Amino acid sequence: MAKEIDWSNLGFGYIQTEKRYVSNYKNGAWDEGVLTEDANVVLNECAGVLQYAQTIFEGMKAYTTEDGKIVVFRPDLNAARMADSAKRLEMPVFPEDRFVDAVAKTVEANIDYVPPFGSGATLYIRPYMFGSNPVIGVKPAQEYQFRVFVTPVGPYFKGGAKPIVIKVSDFDRAAPHGTGHIKAGLNYAMSLHAIVTAHEEGYAENMYLDAATRTKVEETGGANFIFITKDGKFVTPKSDSILPSITRRSLEYVAKEYLGLEVEEREVFFDEVKDFAECGLCGTAAVISPVGKIVDHGKEICFPSGMEEMGPVTKKLYDTLTGIQMGRIEAPEGWIKVIK
Ligand code: PLP
Ligand code: COI
Repeated sequence: MAKEIDWSNLGFGYIQTEKRYVSNYKNGAWDEGVLTEDANVVLNECAGVLQYAQTIFEGMKAYTTEDGKIVVFRPDLNAARMADSAKRLEMPVFPEDRFVDAVAKTVEANIDYVPPFGSGATLYIRPYMFGSNPVIGVKPAQEYQFRVFVTPVGPYFKGGAKPIVIKVSDFDRAAPHGTGHIKAGLNYAMSLHAIVTAHEEGYAENMYLDAATRTKVEETGGANFIFITKDGKFVTPKSDSILPSITRRSLEYVAKEYLGLEVEEREVFFDEVKDFAECGLCGTAAVISPVGKIVDHGKEICFPSGMEEMGPVTKKLYDTLTGIQMGRIEAPEGWIKVIK
């Protein structure tokens, strides 16, 4: 029985569900893993995650399709990205096939929390992993916990598909040769002051520029950028210090193969942003959130698509991507994992 939740009015928040998956790493091996009802984690005061922030995470969603199936979008890519994150933070890799299996098990165990088709809500899936044993010298933990929980969510930005206003941040998100390309908790801790500041000033998000030269567009705190040129090309920033968004990589494919657009993944200079016709943020949580205006220290860049609705190309990308995710449009081979 589906839960009594007002699906259409959900925001992006945490609602505790019934079961979560837990596996522990000790003496060089992962245990078999279990589903548990216990939502709390009890740790030693000196646990590696608490002292030196040794924690990584992932984010993906489960959907109810038009014909009533429950599916997850490309979890194998999240598994691979988490393996990359683990290696960069000197953590053991949770095997990729087991990652996908743990995600499937957790969704299935909370199947009543998957929002119905057409409700506008989805089930957000959060796998994560952290150093759990006491660590006082600066070194990696020897024991780890991998967990997966799920929570039903609505739109990440209030207003859903309404264009947002963002600002160019004075803070940097990621250093060259740093950790911007992995999904480490530390990248988000250091963005909190920037996002609180942006919100206080009335902006929905920050546009981060490259830390070395402050001339190139990187990403926001939780999504990659996509731009549409006036002649209809799809452009997205290429950088070693942004997160390789699965949504963005999927959109590059959709733009090219489904919509016949020319796709450019390249350095994008901030100076050229004013010349684009449309701008959007893309990610699991953001889906595609249109950007209507970017404010750079008082100077406004207003996209021709305006503040009322998504631009026409962004809309086509949005409809095609969500169509694939919700089973209205045929997906490329391997993109959809059916849970039930
Ligand atoms: N960039 C950052 C910093 C993120 O946190 C996310 C969210 O996962 C993304 C981009 C989008 O990535 P994905 O499309 O894989 O969710
Ligand atoms: C996601 O889109 O999954 C994210 O992780 C973005 C944000 C909630 C951190």
